[in-house]
Amino acid sequence: MIRMKSKRNFIIFLCPTLVLFFLYYSSGRLHLRTSIQKSQYDKQGFLTKLDGKLPIELQYKYANLSKGECKPGYAQAKMTSIYPKFSKPAPMFLDPNFKRLSKISIYPPPFGVKTQEKTIDIILAKTNSYSLGPELDSISCLKCIIIGNGGILFNKSLGTKIDEYDVVIRLNEGPVSGFEKDVGSKTTMRITYPEGAIQKPERYEKDSLFVFSAFKPVDFKWLRQMVFNEKLRKMEGFWKSVARVVPREAEDMRILNPYFVQEAAFKFIGLPHNKGLMGRGNIPTLGTVAITMALHNCDEVAVAGFGYDMKTPKAPLHYYEKLMMSAIKESWTHNISKEKEFLWKLVKGGVILDLTNGI
Ligand SMILES: *[C@@H]1O[C@H](CO)[C@@H](O)[C@H](O)[C@H]1NC(C)=O
Ligand SMILES: *[C@@H]1O[C@H](CO)[C@@H](O)[C@H](O)[C@H]1NC(C)=O
Ligand SMILES: *[C@@H]1O[C@H](CO)[C@@H](O)[C@H](O)[C@H]1NC(C)=O
Repeated sequence: MIRMKSKRNFIIFLCPTLVLFFLYYSSGRLHLRTSIQKSQYDKQGFLTKLDGKLPIELQYKYANLSKGECKPGYAQAKMTSIYPKFSKPAPMFLDPNFKRLSKISIYPPPFGVKTQEKTIDIILAKTNSYSLGPELDSISCLKCIIIGNGGILFNKSLGTKIDEYDVVIRLNEGPVSGFEKDVGSKTTMRITYPEGAIQKPERYEKDSLFVFSAFKPVDFKWLRQMVFNEKLRKMEGFWKSVARVVPREAEDMRILNPYFVQEAAFKFIGLPHNKGLMGRGNIPTLGTVAITMALHNCDEVAVAGFGYDMKTPKAPLHYYEKLMMSAIKESWTHNISKEKEFLWKLVKGGVILDLTNGI
């Protein structure tokens, strides 16, 4: 009798315990599942596991192309597969209708055009050209390469390969003459800001576009004087000496759409917003801005000369000078480590091809 009772007590005890355990277990599972769903994307909106797959119809389409043939829409499709928020339309350069671009109208430079609209109107009326030019505009599938100035390019003999791209984008004063074996000889455009622009007139390539990227309001004032070939009046607000003349016709000058600075900083890298103003560590480097532009405007995107070759610490910082890597200074405006995380996502996700494997 006593044994029976204790057995019943045991069962009475066991049942709620099992129910509680089951509830606990299933809620745990549930919790686990929602946390998995949440962590599928990182804070910026990129897949945490960067194995984004292309839509099946694109896989078939690309499989039909012969090897090396340009894959239409490839960079955009790859980007969308690891970053679903990606939205393609964003013109390379500003044109006289730039005020329709609402995202850049609310920020001053470097993230937008606010306060500079009048100066830009005057500049664009003079340049009168707003695209890559008739030859490249007629190509339906563009392969672009962005050449960083890193020492990792040195002695890799990539020149011939680089020249095969439809669009070769160079940055600031990275030289070509004398370095053709490693960096190629073709320059479609050179993106630059006043302090980074080539200072010696004879070093400008004849057939390239001078593409201006503004970081401060005074930069537009400088550009206006360059476009109108005015003698540079004394100007303050630059952090080092600037080119006094840009030996290019106004028709060969362009203004880079500042949306790419904004998108790289706030969306892709996740730099501090700082109320939309330039501040500590919230300006992306020009190389990353150029890559962002190419994601929107090229079908395939490659890079070379980005990052550092850690295996050779004595490697030069730039491919064109003796400065060693140890010369890297702590940067106030950039956040190199956060930026590298973003570039790594692009490489790992197969969005861009890194010819020098430095990212
Ligand atoms: C691929 O090529 C085959 C045979 O040439 C063709 O039938 C098919 O429609 C092509 N597929 C795509 C997606 O273009
Ligand atoms: C460049 O590379 C070649 C082999 O690829 C090597 O023999 C040569 O020493 C290298 N030159 C320099 C300056 O590092
Ligand atoms: C770069 O970002 C990291 C992480 O957000 C932060 O800790 C660091 O202070 C930033 N560096 C600069 C120069 O702003």
